[in-house]
Order: sequence, then C-alpha cells, then structure tokens
Amino acid sequence: MTKAQAQKEIEALRAQIHRHNYNYYVLASPTIPDCEFDRLLERLIELEKSYPEFVTPDSPSLRVGGEITKEFPTVTHKRRMMSLSNTYSSEELREFYKRVQKALSNEGILAFEMVAELKYDGVAISLTYRDGVFVQGATRGDGVTGDDITSNLKTIQTIPLRVQESPATRALLNGEFEVRGEVYMQKKDFEKLNAQRAANEEPLFANPRNAAAGTLKQQDSREVAKRKLTMVAYQLESEALNDTLSHIERLKLLDELGFNVGKASRVCTSLGEVEEFLREWESRRDDLPFEIDGAVIKVNDIRQRNLLGETMKSPRWAIAYKFSARQAETGLNGVTCQVGRVGTVTPVAELQPIKLAGSTISRATLHNFDEIKRLDIRIGDTVVLEKSGDVIPKIVRVVDSRRPPSATPIEPPTHCPECGTALVKPDNEVNLYCPNEDGCPAQRKGRILHYASRNAMDIENCGDAIVEQLLKENLIADAGDLYSLEKSRLAELERFGEKSAQNLLDAIERSKTRSFDRLIFALGIRHVGLATARALAQKFPSITDLQAASLEALQETDDVGDTIAESIFTYFQKPSTKMLIEKLTRAGVKMSSEQVERVKNARVENKTFVFTGTLESLKRDEASSMVLARGGKVSGSVSKKTDFVVAGSEAGSKLEKAVQLGVKVLTEAEFRELMQ
Ligand code: IVH
Repeated sequence: MTKAQAQKEIEALRAQIHRHNYNYYVLASPTIPDCEFDRLLERLIELEKSYPEFVTPDSPSLRVGGEITKEFPTVTHKRRMMSLSNTYSSEELREFYKRVQKALSNEGILAFEMVAELKYDGVAISLTYRDGVFVQGATRGDGVTGDDITSNLKTIQTIPLRVQESPATRALLNGEFEVRGEVYMQKKDFEKLNAQRAANEEPLFANPRNAAAGTLKQQDSREVAKRKLTMVAYQLESEALNDTLSHIERLKLLDELGFNVGKASRVCTSLGEVEEFLREWESRRDDLPFEIDGAVIKVNDIRQRNLLGETMKSPRWAIAYKFSARQAETGLNGVTCQVGRVGTVTPVAELQPIKLAGSTISRATLHNFDEIKRLDIRIGDTVVLEKSGDVIPKIVRVVDSRRPPSATPIEPPTHCPECGTALVKPDNEVNLYCPNEDGCPAQRKGRILHYASRNAMDIENCGDAIVEQLLKENLIADAGDLYSLEKSRLAELERFGEKSAQNLLDAIERSKTRSFDRLIFALGIRHVGLATARALAQKFPSITDLQAASLEALQETDDVGDTIAESIFTYFQKPSTKMLIEKLTRAGVKMSSEQVERVKNARVENKTFVFTGTLESLKRDEASSMVLARGGKVSGSVSKKTDFVVAGSEAGSKLEKAVQLGVKVLTEAEFRELMQ
C-alpha cells in the first residue's frame, strides 16, 4: 500500500465511522451490525498506527481514549458561563414571566415566545469548534475559567469530532463557534457502573450526576470511554450568527450539525403553555432514560434576550424551575443486618412497603450505625424517604411528631447475625466487621457469588439461590469445590434436572480459561478491585509468584498502597487460601498471565529494563509485557543493576543517570529489534 492509498483509505474510513456513530448514538438507528462497525474502527486504528502522520484531531479512533492528563490545564471561557436563578414555586415562575413581559413591553414588544426545555441533571460543559472540528472542551468551573477536559470529552460518542456539512450548516464551517450543553450518565449506565463498583468493593456514586462529574475528572481518558457518558446540546453561539436565529432555530441547527439536542424543547406563547409543559414532564420524568431535576424556561428571541440583559449571576431571560424531590412517609418496621463477603455488617431498614417515583420500596440501606445515630431513627418511627437525583432511595429524617411512645432505639449488634461471632470495629472505620472469615456462612456465600460474578470468572447460572442450595447440601465449601461437582449428584437436587446440571457444569468448565487478572479479582481479596488485580497480574505473572511475593514487592506494584499490600499479603498466608488455590490448580484453572507463555530470548532473560520518555509505537505497559514475556524484569529507576534503559522522546533524568552509570541505552527501534 502506498502512502497516498493509506491516506485515502483512512479518510474514507473516518467519514464512514462518523456517519455510523451519528446513526447509532444520536439517531438511535444503526444501519450496520456492531461487529461490522468494530471492524471499520479496528482497520482505522491499524492504519493510523502505521501512518501516524495521518492522525487528525477529529479521528474517531480517539473515542477509545488513551491520553493521560496529570492535571487539567485551565481555560478562560470566551463567553462567561452563567448559572440560572432557580425556583420551586409556580408563583415565582409567574413573577418571572410578568417581569419579562413588562421589560419587553417597555421596549415596545408586546408578544414574545418562551422555549421550555428539560433541565438535565449532569455537568455543564462548553465545546469550541474551529472550521468544523472539535478543538477544545471545558467544564464550567467558576463560570470565568474552567478545566480543559478535551481528551475526556472526545471519548463521548454524542459529541461530534467534526460536524456535519449541509447547506444549513455551511455558515458555521469556517471560523469558530461554541456549543454548550450538559454531559450526563444514563440511568442504566449508572446502575451498571455502580453494580460493577459494588462488586469491586469500590465506593458507590450517590447519583448519575456525581457519576458523570467523577468520570469527567478521570485522568485516564480510556476510563472515561468505558463509562459511557452522553451529551445534550442546548446552546449555540458564534460571531457569524451574532443575534440572528432564535433559540429554537439554533437547536434545529445543532441537530443538523450532528449534536444530540433532545426532543422535548417546546415553544410556548403563554404562561399557561409553560405550566402545561411543567405538569407534563413532572409526571413523566421517571419514563426518561436519564435524570432531570426540572425544566428551563428561556426567551426564544436572542435580540429580546439582549434587551433583558443579566444580573451579576444569571441572565434575566431564563429561569430554572426545579421539580420537588420525591418524598414519601412510611413506617420503619425493623432493622436487619446484612453481612457482605468481606464481613462488613450493613444495617438495612425494613419499611412498610410504599410506592415512590414509580417503584415499590420496602427496604433502604442505612449504610452504618453512625448514620442511624445521626438520624436518631427508632423502630416504630415514621420516616421520610426521598428519591431526588438518586436512584436508590434514602431515609432523610424522622417525623418527630409521629414518634410513638413505644419507639425503640436501635443498638448496633455485638455479634454477627449469621454466625454469632463477636463483631469488631477497626479504628478509623465506621463499619462493623465479622472477623470469622472462614466460618461465617454469609461471607462464604458472598465470596463464592463474587467468584462466579460477571467481572470475575463469569459463571452463568451460578446465582444466589443455587449457591445457597449447594452450600446447604454441603456440596461446596469454597469456590474451588465448584470444579469437583458431579452431574449425577447435581441432577438429584431440587429444581435441578439433567439439563440444568449440565449447563452449570459447562459454565464452570468455561471459567477455567479466564484471564489471570480476573482470577486474582475473583479471589475476593479485600481492597483488590479489577484495576489492582490487573496491576498484580502484570507484576506477578503466576499465582506462585503472587503467593511468594514479599510485602515490599507488593507495595511496589502500581495501584497498591500499604493497606492493600498488607491485605494481599495476609490473604495468601491463610491456610484456607492455600487450600483454595490447591483446588483451583488441581482443577486446571488458568493461574498465570499470557505473558508467561514465555518467548525464549536469551538476550532478554533475567535482564532489567527501565523505560523513560514517551515511546512512539508502544504503550509503556505493552513494552513492559514484552520484557516480562521474555523472562526479563522491568524497574522504575536506573541503578548499576540496570541492563538497559529504553529512551523515548523527551527522556529526562533517567537517561542522564544511565549515561553517567554507563548503562546501555536503547532507542525504541533497537528495543523492538532486541525483542524479536
Ligand atoms: S441553559 C445562562 N438549559 O443548569 C444559563 N441549562 O443553573 C444557560 N442545565 O449550568 C444554561 N439543562 O448545567 C440550560 N436545558 C438546559 C439545561 C441547563 C441543564 C444546567 C446547566 C446550567 C445549570 C443552570
């Protein structure tokens, strides 16, 4: 393939991918199957790797992320990003309407239009396009300056990297324009993310807004790409447009440019129509796939907006009407305690079932006993449940006036409700723990369920009811026993037949080949989530290496601090762990990295490598894996023991040190050759 051919193909692929992305994410009507789309993207990435000179800032390959930002640079907004004045009452809304009416009539304008639209509950952002290409994206910050989060925003599929050309959009294709909007996380993506975090024992996000904000702050844009955010556009500004085109016409133009503008915005010519919009959406908000916290009412005409002007904080031409949080009162029947797989005891409120925002609620987590004390909740109380942005309802307070004399205070348990062992409360922690790791049936069950869960060994049909049954029948005591289950014995069980027994055994068999990092995660070591498991698998290529690792070696692993290192170290000292690993080994579960399927290379074996600077064609971890796979070692600092320093562009002090110590320095090309 010639250079020119490559360029041509890259351009064609890019145009195709842009179009399919738009069909899929904005129009929600894809015209090709996912696998075909993936093939196009893979081909583009492959070509761009060989011809990096043709990578453009609008390439859809950037959607997968990759850029790491240590600290986001600050940018000054071209136009200040104001906020809106809020109201919760129809009275204030009427006052706002009257104010606008009066001010405009003073200018001789007697009829005016408002646009009512949804108030998306996410994070405000501003996007700058130059000559049709997305060049910079920033958070609102304090309204004057914000954070430059361009590479994170590039991973969001509903943000066009290059806008669509059409007769209508032509006026905007030269020069600069700005789009403002909201980045949010859809309810289903939020739930998935939290479920994953729960499985990894990572702290949960309270609501989709926090999840979106937290995601945009990520330093690794690959993580942002994974977490699925959506952008909706609600403002378009450009010098070319100046004050022509009304708000609703601009929304139409944004739609033609390829942005997601939502479908709810409506022109209203009277207060009555605005109120109708509010009534309608307040009752329909639970049907939407994303959270809204109200509506925004804006004057449609931009010249009229300019006449109205603004106060110090917010424009006079718009107001946010917030929906009230959905609350309900119900009785607290009791508090039960759940014991998690690492022994955490969580109090759960057992409620008089009640309907709230579309679902019936009968339980709500109380998080911990400090929270119970803070709220002063007693059994028999009437409590206020609230669902605001949060999908999970929470108890916000007690209705004091309705406390019966018989209401009884809730004391933290002293013993595990599952196994009766005395509970412990580590210093500096709010949680109570059951220390009976091996004997407590709740922990045992939790660990097996975790082992089989989707992100871990992904054993289908190995859910709560089945694990409970297998434990009860004494067929298993830990996850290792899953591999010695017998079909005849399984088929005899209640609710099981030949077929379901075989299905379960097949699923268990398939789990033997899961990657080593998933296995480490599946072990359920306290504080070891997927990311840590991955880092461990990189550094310790087999379970034997990991078992034998010293505390110091563990502490040197990426992502592993002192607490985690200690938790891992202690885990591998336990006799029950040794037993489990023995069972897994005997069953033939894969317990080493692909990388140890070693490539023989005597020039690399037992040699220590240090990487410095930026490599062109390889990521650091890829380069490290190549060394590890050949039996070499990778270190973070240069010493006399270092055999090779691989220097990429902008290599700094490590390179200097290598030269000083006389360590052999390799270019990237030489490194590649050595790996051959
Ligand atoms: S218009 C001058 N429209 O609400 C203000 N804002 O407090 C221009 N928001 O910071 C904002 N949905 O993050 C506008 N349809 C919508 C919106 C919206 C959500 C957010 C935005 C803004 C905040 C106002």
